Amino acid sequence: MKRPVIAGAGCYLPPDVVTNDDLARRLDTSDAWIRTRTGMSERHVVDAATATADLAVEAGRRALESTGTARADVVVLATTTPDRQVPPTAPEIAHRLGLGTVPAFDLSAACAGFLYGLSTAAGMIATGAAEQVLLIGADAFTTMVDPEDRATVVLFGDAAGALVLRAGHAGQPGAIGAPVLGSDGSLADLIQVPAGGSRSRARGPLGELADPSDFYFRMNGRETFRHAVTRMSQSSRQAVEAAGWSLAQVDRLGAHQANARILAAVAEELAFEPARQLSNVAQVANTAAASLPTLLAMAAAEGTLKPGHRVLLTAFGGGLSWGAATLTWPEITPLVD
Ligand code: UT7
Repeated sequence: MKRPVIAGAGCYLPPDVVTNDDLARRLDTSDAWIRTRTGMSERHVVDAATATADLAVEAGRRALESTGTARADVVVLATTTPDRQVPPTAPEIAHRLGLGTVPAFDLSAACAGFLYGLSTAAGMIATGAAEQVLLIGADAFTTMVDPEDRATVVLFGDAAGALVLRAGHAGQPGAIGAPVLGSDGSLADLIQVPAGGSRSRARGPLGELADPSDFYFRMNGRETFRHAVTRMSQSSRQAVEAAGWSLAQVDRLGAHQANARILAAVAEELAFEPARQLSNVAQVANTAAASLPTLLAMAAAEGTLKPGHRVLLTAFGGGLSWGAATLTWPEITPLVD
């Protein structure tokens, strides 16, 4: 059976940077609290003229350029912050990348979106629906968090990351193992934006306006933390077992960069020492669906991720949804900032 093989990678971070001290100047928080509770120092943020598609086009362009070709048979965009509710954002990205009328669609699985995207790409490649998939994870979460809510605003940054996946076979450098995915809708309320969807629209049935604060992101951080550690650890074990590897044989753990304490807890659970963990949470914070591809591209560019490394990816987010996947890192040069 044909498997997806990584042929290119890239990422894009918007140029504006917000430090912990910047946040502490206008909110009741401090650099010390943010560092010790989250491991974050700064985050890249979009300006008022920039949306998710703008980030995604840059990351997609870089990933395609890194392959030496400008071809993709399909564009999959994992995002929770599409430019508009209608239309989907991916067709505009395909158009702006000069890919013509290829199929292009958005995929919504919050912070686990990139792993759901890998699974979707794997299916399209296995059935022959596509030979080369451009998979982009992009989010501008800072457009969705309440700027006055210190509990969430400190956690997020904006970014896009992309992989070009080509039809190949298992065992080839860059080959992706079958992702392990899961969800638990009984805990849907833990991470949510209450209004703006069909359950709570801008105006109710009698024309009454929704509470403006309901359009902002909300999270029960403490509960989410607990489930994140459990589900990422569990799915990681399953993905490694499915690949026929042991955890000790994995060279690099790339976990969704939600919080350094969550990463430490998952690493402890799976017995990964710091040298085998990839991390950019201090510089980019939580970038949702962009987190994993941005982590891979940046780590490969700086040399902490090397060709031949066996990599375990895992992520967790709203839904709840989660997953894990294995891959071997290929001999490619990702294009990053
Ligand atoms: O990407 C999707 C998945 N997301 C996650 O996995 C995130 C999971 N959760 C977390 O990362 C952590 O729960 C947080 C970083 C969100 C919060 O850390 P925590 O250690 O769980 O803190 P907490 O929510 O229990 O709050 C502790 C205290 C509270 O004050 P009181 O009630 O003890 O007086 C908060 O009001 O910290 C307060 N607090 C803050 N203080 C200073 C919350 N945010 C801040 C802040 N600065 N920014």
